[in-house]
Amino acid sequence: MRVLGLETTCDETAASVVRLRPDGSGEILADEVMSQIAAHAAYGGVVPEIAARAHVEVLDELIGRALEKARLKPADLDAVAAAAGPGLIGGVLVGLSAAKGIAVAADKPFLAINHLEGHALIPRLDGKLEFPYLLLLASGGHTQILAVEGVGSYVRLGATMDDAIGEAFDKTAKLLGLGYPGGPAVEAAAQTGDPGRFALPRPLLGRPTADFSLSGLKTAVRHTAMGAAPLTPQDVADLSASFQAAVVDTIEDRMRVALGLYRQRGATAKAIVIAGGVAANLAIRAALSRFAQQSGLPLVAPPVRLCTDNGAMIAWAGIERLRLGQSDPLDAPARARWPLDPKAERARNNKA
Ligand code: KG4
Ligand code: ZN
Repeated sequence: MRVLGLETTCDETAASVVRLRPDGSGEILADEVMSQIAAHAAYGGVVPEIAARAHVEVLDELIGRALEKARLKPADLDAVAAAAGPGLIGGVLVGLSAAKGIAVAADKPFLAINHLEGHALIPRLDGKLEFPYLLLLASGGHTQILAVEGVGSYVRLGATMDDAIGEAFDKTAKLLGLGYPGGPAVEAAAQTGDPGRFALPRPLLGRPTADFSLSGLKTAVRHTAMGAAPLTPQDVADLSASFQAAVVDTIEDRMRVALGLYRQRGATAKAIVIAGGVAANLAIRAALSRFAQQSGLPLVAPPVRLCTDNGAMIAWAGIERLRLGQSDPLDAPARARWPLDPKAERARNNKA
């Protein structure tokens, strides 16, 4: 089984071909990613209209390159998948329309993939991770803790009430003049910093729900930075390290509560898993590794290049669904919002 996957929901244009091996693992035959970071850098964040245009400009070429590297023609594929949301709607439309076009032309099944499902399932690419598992999905746009019970079956145990963790990294980087995207820059600066120099809050620490709140931490970073201005490179390093330490403590505490909540439901997670761009952070990976060990569970963290947005996760989610006999109609819509656990989303909205 070989599936082409397209990803255009944010600031990465990606096309990948993944093959399902007989042993149930996936082999990435091609994985083409073009980052738009340079196009957005001047604005300190992603500009939706620039993103959509940039996807249009490069997607065809990336698809061509991916098929060439995989030594396949569209007729050799078993299906074509695209991320249909959640994300910036202009960009989503680009990838979704391209995938539908190829599916029609080659007369292949089409799959409209939830971008978050791509992040949630890619840790299974090696064929070893079994359901159910407790997943921290943390990216620039999303932060949630999910019980992943099967393909298409997700229970949201907690989520951020304001900023996503990646967003908090990005905003901290902007404030400290470290550029965009902020995660890798803050992590690099933190390496030479003293995490104990600035006392920053650990929002919601000890609360019995597994939710996150990052905006208070962000404000505290801003006030601390203003108080210490003008910042020396050592101040920037220390503030980065202090911020990262606060995030690490928060994640550990929230995951502990989430695992407790999951166990209260009578469920047994087989692993602790981290995915999404923030999973590239080595301090966060180390903290979760400690936490998993204490909980008697393995930690599964995909390779860094599969944590940030990529096409392989869309192709793989397509394979996971296709092998269950699923596909989608050609009028599947592009969706700006698309929760993995609609029940939890509804409950939250009714509360708000
Ligand atoms: O999953 P992703 O590539 O795109 C979204 O779906 O949002 O995640 C990007 C986010 C950005 O906010 C970026 O700053 C963050 O992941 N990120 C990191 C690191 N690498 C990327 N955050 C912390 N530490 C990192 N090393
Ligand atoms: Zn993502």
